Amino acid sequence: MILPVILSGGSGSRLWPVSREHYPKQFLNLHKDDVSLLQEAALRLKDVANAGAPIIVCNEEHRFLVAEQMQQVGFKGSQIILEPCGRNTAPALAIAALAAAEVNVEAELLVMPADHVIKDVTAFSDAVEKGHTLSQQGKLVTFGITPASPHTGYGYIKRGSALSEGFAVEAFVEKPDLAAAESYLKTGDYLWNSGIFLFKASSYLEALKQYAPDILTSCQAAYQARTEDMDFLRIEAASFAQCRNESIDYAVMEHTKQAAVVPMSPGWSDIGAWDALHELRSIEDKQSGNVVHGDVMLHETQNSLVYSDSRLVAAVGVKDLIIVETDDAVLVADRHQAQDTKLIVNALKAAG
Ligand code: GDD
Ligand code: MG
Repeated sequence: MILPVILSGGSGSRLWPVSREHYPKQFLNLHKDDVSLLQEAALRLKDVANAGAPIIVCNEEHRFLVAEQMQQVGFKGSQIILEPCGRNTAPALAIAALAAAEVNVEAELLVMPADHVIKDVTAFSDAVEKGHTLSQQGKLVTFGITPASPHTGYGYIKRGSALSEGFAVEAFVEKPDLAAAESYLKTGDYLWNSGIFLFKASSYLEALKQYAPDILTSCQAAYQARTEDMDFLRIEAASFAQCRNESIDYAVMEHTKQAAVVPMSPGWSDIGAWDALHELRSIEDKQSGNVVHGDVMLHETQNSLVYSDSRLVAAVGVKDLIIVETDDAVLVADRHQAQDTKLIVNALKAAG
């Protein structure tokens, strides 16, 4: 039985001003108009063989939002693990693995970020099936995507020798610098890490014990002192706050000898920033290349994303722009520099 774990703790700052700390991108209908990214992730599981109801790991602040959105898509009563603060994905998954191990230490966790789009669910579920064979053998399975550019926001996986399914991982490099990413792309031996993983709870806990024992210790303390109410499992704040803030990629994947990769091509995208959303949806209007949302009027405008939340937004004679309007903030950005929206959010945070 596969136990899906949906990671829903990120803040999505590069999709500001629509994505906010109180209402991050995974809860927004950014890709499809009728479901949020989180709901899409949950619905995807209906097509994955042997997948049970998901565990969602999120910030305490979002508990009712998660419960309500899950209920809306027919997952009433899914277990929701609440973090008192964000400590990144290595601890979030340690807690999920501890919870799963209590029921069955051999349970296989299918880790899915809440903020991805996967267009071809059959291709995804076929890849998970291949990964299942490897995770049964104790491997920490990653799912690799053929890289399309030297993007520095992803993990890079060097393919090693062929296994019964997929390949051994010869090297895993999280978020390399541009020069390294360019050289990886040239070799043709590297895949992007999709951020989706499959492993037995016991394999992950063992890897943590070996490569990040401090994270395991803090998470064990936080989990042991948990409280439960309704569908919510609340971990203890003081011990969790002391945990090192680290992603699974840096804490485990860069070190483990047990990593394997299953290449897949399921039309995967990480909706990291506005330009990614533009790229994903611009095929809807091939001629103009525009993506619009809400009350928008355009004249001689091309390859732009114009998002209106409350007021009418009009654009004339522009191209390659991101324009996003909300009640209290408006973003205007060059489409090619959309990643830097995060810098504005950081500056706003610093200013208090
Ligand atoms: N519960 C919880 N708690 N979830 C978290 C936390 C946390 O503290 N931090 C992040 N997440 C969730 C995010 O919401 C997202 O769904 C997922 O974990 C991955 O976190 P990101 O912060 O988006 O990671 P990333 O995009 O920088 O990098 C990861 O994903 C890339 C592919 O999208 C890495 O795994 C890369 O190697 C990978 O290429
Ligand atoms: Mg991400």
